[in-house]
Amino acid sequence: MQEQLSTLLARAAAELQATRTRPELEAAKARYVGPNGEFTAIMKQMGSVAKELRPAMGKLVNESKARLQGLLDSRLRAIEDSELSARLGPPIDPTLPSPDPGPGTYHPLTLVREEVCRILRKVGFTVADGPEVETEFYCFDALNTPPDHPARDVQDTFYFPPTMRFDNVTVHRPGERYLLRTHTSSVQVRTMLKGPPPIRIVSPGRVYRRDTTDASHSANFHQIECLYVDRNVTVRDLKALLDYLFEALLGPGTKTRFRPHYFGYTEPSFEVDLSAKHLPKVNKEWIEIGGCGIVDPEVFKAVGYDPDVWTGYAFGMGIERLAMTLYGIDDIRVFYQNDLRLLRQFTGGI
Ligand code: DAH
Repeated sequence: MQEQLSTLLARAAAELQATRTRPELEAAKARYVGPNGEFTAIMKQMGSVAKELRPAMGKLVNESKARLQGLLDSRLRAIEDSELSARLGPPIDPTLPSPDPGPGTYHPLTLVREEVCRILRKVGFTVADGPEVETEFYCFDALNTPPDHPARDVQDTFYFPPTMRFDNVTVHRPGERYLLRTHTSSVQVRTMLKGPPPIRIVSPGRVYRRDTTDASHSANFHQIECLYVDRNVTVRDLKALLDYLFEALLGPGTKTRFRPHYFGYTEPSFEVDLSAKHLPKVNKEWIEIGGCGIVDPEVFKAVGYDPDVWTGYAFGMGIERLAMTLYGIDDIRVFYQNDLRLLRQFTGGI
């Protein structure tokens, strides 16, 4: 029996060593330790071993069993290792320069954002920034948006738990609730609180709403905000700026039109459409692109500007909507999927 065991072990070692895949290993394992396996058969002979030899033989069988298990385990590890390296491919030297670094391109949303900022800089606007985590004051109260306004509902807006603090986000009054900004209009308030008019800013950035994602909605997207505050600012100035902006962005023949609307922070307020029928990828005469109006005196009061002296216009629009129009993209989700096949198509000018 002793001899049987040692030849069996030697044979098993050679045979296991020769297996290359898990199924091969499983088959070999079954041949030795399966119900009809050779090792199992030897174990079954234990009953017929003379009583005085049993302790010694038992020890031997147990040792052999442990060795066999050891062989099986180490073979399984070796097979797993080779499976992993097959998945990883040939070894690389990460310190070598990339064989094809490629020039890279800008994301379409970046292209549109930069182009709009560039056009507005030419007429005196500076780029302003604001935090994505906001407080109710900057996002709503100062913008004349009352507590019962639907935009403030937890159904529409992401609020933070009351225990959370963001030390880099200045609050207006202690104890204000924090939220993810629902629009870039909050930057209007932050900018005005920093200093006196005249003000001429453009502020691009990310905004958040509790929207269910589909082809035209995303819980976070991007906007561009404009604010101009000076003396004697009128709707004509606003219309002229938008005509200039969209003509510069989309080419000659682009028209804008205003439709009356309501926003708490502007009076009068309008929705802006642009005539896009000349764009090869758009089949519509008018597409809605943003909201605007003449800054409401209540907003000036909230930031300490004298509404009898100062006037202004404000404007906000979605970058995704604009990029989709420009590039003929029909699903907002593609902007966030980082599919190089899509991104490589946008190499520069609009
Ligand atoms: N904040 C508005 C929105 O997210 C867009 C907007 C409307 C911005 C009117 C403005 C404005 O500055 O005056 O839908």
